[in-house]
Amino acid sequence: MNRQDFPSDFIWGSATASYQVEGAAFEDGKGASIWNEFEKLPGAIADNASGDVSCDQYHRYKEDVALMRDMGLKVYRFSMAWSRIFPEGGGKLNPKGMDYYKRLCDELHDNGLEPWITFYHWDLPQALQERFGGWRSRECAKYFADYVAAAAGELKGRCDHYFTFNEFLGSTDQGYFNGVCAPGLRLSRKERNQVRHNALYAHGLGLQVLRDVLPGAKVGIAENPVFFTPVIDTPEHVAAAKKAFREVNGHFITAIMEGGYPESYLAAEGADAPVVGDGDFKLIGAPMDFLGLNIYYGRLIRSAPELPEQYEIFYDDASTVWSDCNGMFQPAAVYWGSRIASELWKPEAIIISENGTSCEDRPARDGEVYDLFRVKYLRAYMESMSRAIRDGVPVKGYFHWSFLDNLEWGSGYRRRFGLYFVNYRTGERIPKLSAKWFKELIQTCKIV
Ligand code: BGC
Repeated sequence: MNRQDFPSDFIWGSATASYQVEGAAFEDGKGASIWNEFEKLPGAIADNASGDVSCDQYHRYKEDVALMRDMGLKVYRFSMAWSRIFPEGGGKLNPKGMDYYKRLCDELHDNGLEPWITFYHWDLPQALQERFGGWRSRECAKYFADYVAAAAGELKGRCDHYFTFNEFLGSTDQGYFNGVCAPGLRLSRKERNQVRHNALYAHGLGLQVLRDVLPGAKVGIAENPVFFTPVIDTPEHVAAAKKAFREVNGHFITAIMEGGYPESYLAAEGADAPVVGDGDFKLIGAPMDFLGLNIYYGRLIRSAPELPEQYEIFYDDASTVWSDCNGMFQPAAVYWGSRIASELWKPEAIIISENGTSCEDRPARDGEVYDLFRVKYLRAYMESMSRAIRDGVPVKGYFHWSFLDNLEWGSGYRRRFGLYFVNYRTGERIPKLSAKWFKELIQTCKIV
């Protein structure tokens, strides 16, 4: 029984984001982000929760890194709060804010972990929102590039892996069109499309400056396209899944991987299509070192030659079990998501930059947290990832969302995604059963 499900050099990690875990919302000169502002709107966040303290990782990072080391994690993916480094979005850098990330990187290295840093996980400096409407303006992308250049320069020698953006949808559609995320706007479709494009442009500019400032660094994105699972593994359904994946995600991942919007997107948006500057796509489509996919679930799809788009997506199928834990249980999404992205665009490496589920976790009488559903979930998703690797898909790493329970955006503290349970009253961290399971997986590279 010496079979391993994963190669010994597989990159095992876990992920968080600044607003969700750091707390210290205004400490050491940090400026407000759009989330610090948005959370003040009554009802914007469940229970009117705030990120002022959250998991307090800003003060507890040493304790957290020690827990990561004990679990055997090789990588910690976290994001930097732009407004900690540039309280006004640009201009004068705040050395104290920058220092926090340097200390965090050093602590990780001292404990045998590598930092993988996300530059933008949705917390835009409020100053830029007020000044020119945030991502409504191309100016914002230029500020982003300046922030990336300065922060990357400061981190030289401390971090070699970067994500420019986490999930474009969360900071574009959800913030400027559906209003469920900061800054909570409901703009027109045309304006939304421009916001989307400005974010892509920021990614392109950020990528370019990173290449200049840190030529040896590895750079990618962490994106959550809509994933598709063919109803049957036969050529016509697989082809339908591929076609849909490319078209449905035309405005983000396809645009980046192909350096242009697919015809289907431009045709669907018509007069609402975004204005694209000369040379934008040269930047946006520049090659990356890895493709990060945040995979939680996927939709089933069938080939449908009788329909104009030639596929039918099942939005409401009972086979994709809705877990009682507020998420969708669809392990096959990892296999099909990574395989289809790989076949379409041949990225050098794929990282599963997020995957996980929320559960109603609470300590049992003996003080332990038995998150049985998360363990079942992980087992199934890991089988799916292992199948992808066996089939030659270049999946090189997996970062569990999340390391700790944290502030789940609009759902506040109600949804717990962590491998560690957080007692928000005392700040105590308790390893859940899944943390122990994951540790075993990392040690043995076997699905246990
Ligand atoms: C985001 C995380 C979020 C997680 C769980 C992803 O969409 O990147 O910030 O907490 O999913 O909902």
